[in-house]
Formats: sequence, C-alpha cells, structure tokens
Amino acid sequence: MTTKVSAEEMAKQRDFIRRVRELLEKYPAPPKAHVHTFGCQQNVSDGEKIKGMLCEMGYGLCDTPDGAELVIFNTCAVRENAEDRVFGNLGALKHNKQANPDMIIGVCGCMTEQEHVVKKIKRSFPHVDMVFGTNALHMLPELLYKQLCGRKRDFFIPKNDGVIAEGVPLRRENPLKASIPIMYGCNNFCSYCIVPYVRGRERSRDTEDIVREAENAVKSGAREILLLGQNVNSYGKELGTNFAELLRRVNAIDGEFRICYMSSHPKDATRGLIDAIAECEKVTRHFHLPVQSGSNRILELMNRRYTREDYIAITEYIREKVPNAALTSDIIVGFPGETYNDFCETLSLIRQVKFDSLYTFIYSPRKGTKAAEMDDPASAEEKGKWFRELLDVQSEIGRGMYEKYVGKTLRVLCEGEGRSNPALLTGRTEQDVIVDFDGDRSLIGKFVDVRIEQAFDWMLSGKTIE
Ligand code: SAH
Ligand code: SF4
Ligand code: F3S
Repeated sequence: MTTKVSAEEMAKQRDFIRRVRELLEKYPAPPKAHVHTFGCQQNVSDGEKIKGMLCEMGYGLCDTPDGAELVIFNTCAVRENAEDRVFGNLGALKHNKQANPDMIIGVCGCMTEQEHVVKKIKRSFPHVDMVFGTNALHMLPELLYKQLCGRKRDFFIPKNDGVIAEGVPLRRENPLKASIPIMYGCNNFCSYCIVPYVRGRERSRDTEDIVREAENAVKSGAREILLLGQNVNSYGKELGTNFAELLRRVNAIDGEFRICYMSSHPKDATRGLIDAIAECEKVTRHFHLPVQSGSNRILELMNRRYTREDYIAITEYIREKVPNAALTSDIIVGFPGETYNDFCETLSLIRQVKFDSLYTFIYSPRKGTKAAEMDDPASAEEKGKWFRELLDVQSEIGRGMYEKYVGKTLRVLCEGEGRSNPALLTGRTEQDVIVDFDGDRSLIGKFVDVRIEQAFDWMLSGKTIE
C-alpha cells in the first residue's frame, strides 16, 4: 500500500498556489501571514512547509498576529500545558479578528487530530475559520483558496494512517540548519504518549528523496543536516533499508557539514547503529536517548520495551565506541502508579549514567492513551517534590561536567553573535555544547577550531585557533 500523495494531487495543489497568487496580486500590497508553531522539531519542519507554501502564494511573513491577514497556529498535543498555551493564544486572537473581520484564522498540527479539541474549537472559538489535520498539510493551498473565495468554516481532518507528500515548497528558519524529515508517525504506542494517535503510523521517505534534499541543502549553504523522525532508529523497515545505511549515504555527500538526528528510541539503538555512527565522521558526537524512567516496573507499564539494564548496556557501548560522546535524555516524573521507590531507581540511573543534560517532564494524562486509564494515586504535590529533587540531583551531577573540555581544542560551528556578550561569537561543539569565543563576524556559518579556556555549568568559552 502506498502512502505517497500522488503526483496529480501535488500538481493540483501547485495550481491552487497559482490561483491564490492571482487573487493576492489584486491587493495593494502583499498581505501578511503569521505562522506560530508550537511543539517539537517535527512541527517546526511542518511550519517551514507552511511558510514555504504561503510565500509562493504571495504572502509576506510577520512575527505577530497584529496586522496579519492570515494567522496559522501549528499546534502540539504532547502535554496539557502545550495545549493550554495554544488555547490561550487562540482566545487572544478574538481581538485581532474583531479589529479585522477579513482575517483568516487557521489551526493545524497535532491537536487537530483529537476529536475533543475539534469540538472545543467548533464551540468555543467561533473566530477560527479553518482546521486542518496533520495529513492535510500539503492541501493548504486548496483550503486557503476556498477561504479566500468566501467559503464557510472548514474542518478538514482526513482519517487515514498517514501520508507522505513530496515536493512541498519550504522556507527554512535558519539557512545554516536544514531539518529533513526522514519518517513520519510512530508505531511504538508508549502508554503515556499521544503522538501515535495524532501522527499516524510509521512511514519512511525514500532514501533517494532524502539524499537529494540533503545534497541541495548543503549546496545552498546548510552546515547542519538534522534528520527528523519520532523514532529515526526504525527508519526504512518497510523499504528494506535501515537508519545506519541512510547515515552512511548522507555522510558520503561532499561538503563541510555535520549530521544530527532526533529522536532515537533505546530499544532500536543497536550496536550496529552505534558502530555506523562512530564510523561516519560527519555525524555529531551527541546521543539523545530518552530513557523516561529507571524503574523496570515503570518502563514495562510505559511499554518502552527495554529494561534499565538494557539501557545502561547501550550507554556503556556508546562510551566505549565514541569516547568523546555527550549523552542526554528525557525523564517523565510521576507516571501513574509510580512510587517514591520507583523514582529513586530513576535517580540511581541518572547518577550511574551521568547525562550531560536532561529534559524533564511531569507526567501529563493524554485522553485516549492507555496510561490515562491507569490508577494514579500520587498527588500533584508529591510529584512536584520528586521533580524538584530530580532537578537538584541532575544539577549536582552536571556541576563541573564541562571541566573536562578545558585545554582541549574543539570544532565549533559558528552560529552568530555571543549570548553573554555580542562582541563575541557563539557556536556549538560536536557534543552540542554551547561555546562563546572571540573572532571576526566573517566566521559566522563556518567551522572553527576553538581552544577551550573556561567551563561554566551549561556552556564553555575559548579562543579561536588561527
Ligand atoms: N518520539 C520521541 C519523543 C516524543 S515526545 C521519543 O520517543 O523520544 C518528547 C518527550 O516528551 C518524550 O520523550 C517524553 O519524555 C515526553 N512526554 C511524552 N508524552 C508525555 C506525557 N504524556 N507527559 C509527560 N511527558 C511526556
Ligand atoms: Fe511517543 Fe514513544 Fe512514539 Fe516517542 S516512541 S513518539 S514517546 S509513542
Ligand atoms: Fe507535539 Fe506533535 Fe511534536 S504532539 S511533540 S508537535 S509530534
């Protein structure tokens, strides 16, 4: 079964782009569009497609809804606070719509794939004109054309397992960094997670499409290629290939650039894959491997399909094969039924592995997931206390962590002016550590060797080596 959107359908959408452009050419000046993306890199990448399509249609982009003729919210459903933020911002748009009744307001992204959210928008946000699901992104030109021609409210959420649309125009947020989706959707159904329900089944893009996109990005000046997917480690299963093969292909592209990827699932982080990463000199020395919990009981309830022991064994193999690697992870505190003892297992795991940094979350129940049905006796206060304890333990582990880099020369991609001091430059090492250093602005966008002189808790500083 093919999930690729047909060439005819994509041609039809290009025709709608042309028709919208003709409509907009009648405006005295190009109308402005504001696109607000919430959530993960996958959504940021979708946002780049939305902006790409809008620019081809003749819109100018602006940073706030004020003065915009079109506002699109590209939403995230991963935790309750992400959704609350969207609803808050959406409510505030009422005033913009009152000031400019011709304004078109669209909502897309992960939240639109949940029925209760669509109902809430229908009922409580009458100023929203169109809602389109994650599998209708490439149809924005057609949906927008219909709005511009005066059509009524439109809720378009195709129910399928997910599609792949090639050839959608793109407008990259940062010309130095090219985010390239390699797969969409997720089949893992971790019991707490909404993503498989809102992003559909796992599907991989053709290797040749990915390699071509990466080659073009490098030719047009990208210095970092970010290969994106909810679980990049299972890339290519249905195509008879795998992520290690893809990394080798992208690594073989001519030019000076680095390769990053996210996210990896520990259950699929095989030794073969780690060997491939070690071999590919362009792949960064940073492993983000979300562990979620250090308790085997909780990992099982989460349906993560690895044990604490499996996880530790992978990190030991990474440290052996890639000795200069940085390791980071995601942790969920307060999963249903988690006890203080389970939580202490997480603390002991992070003490043992010594992550460079952690992304920490308090469990948020998501309607429709298995975990949302489980008993959850621990109180919010208790979970908050554990959460603060986790942060304290990690900051104790992290203290002095970067001292090991002092005196070393690291290769840094220079990204712009310094954060602490605009007279300096800033960039990131292969371990994804921020470095401020001296040098001429002409180095921005280049790889520079920097000798590290000082380490702070979350960054480094140093001097460029001529
Ligand atoms: N596909 C990626 C991550 C997706 S979401 C992966 O598997 O690594 C990013 C992180 O959000 C997850 O790793 C998890 O730590 C957190 N997360 C997901 N659902 C959550 C929920 N319901 N409550 C709290 N945190 C959650
Ligand atoms: Fe969610 Fe798990 Fe899939 Fe990541 S792997 S997106 S956490 S279901
Ligand atoms: Fe959020 Fe959707 Fe990403 S739920 S984290 S934007 S895939």
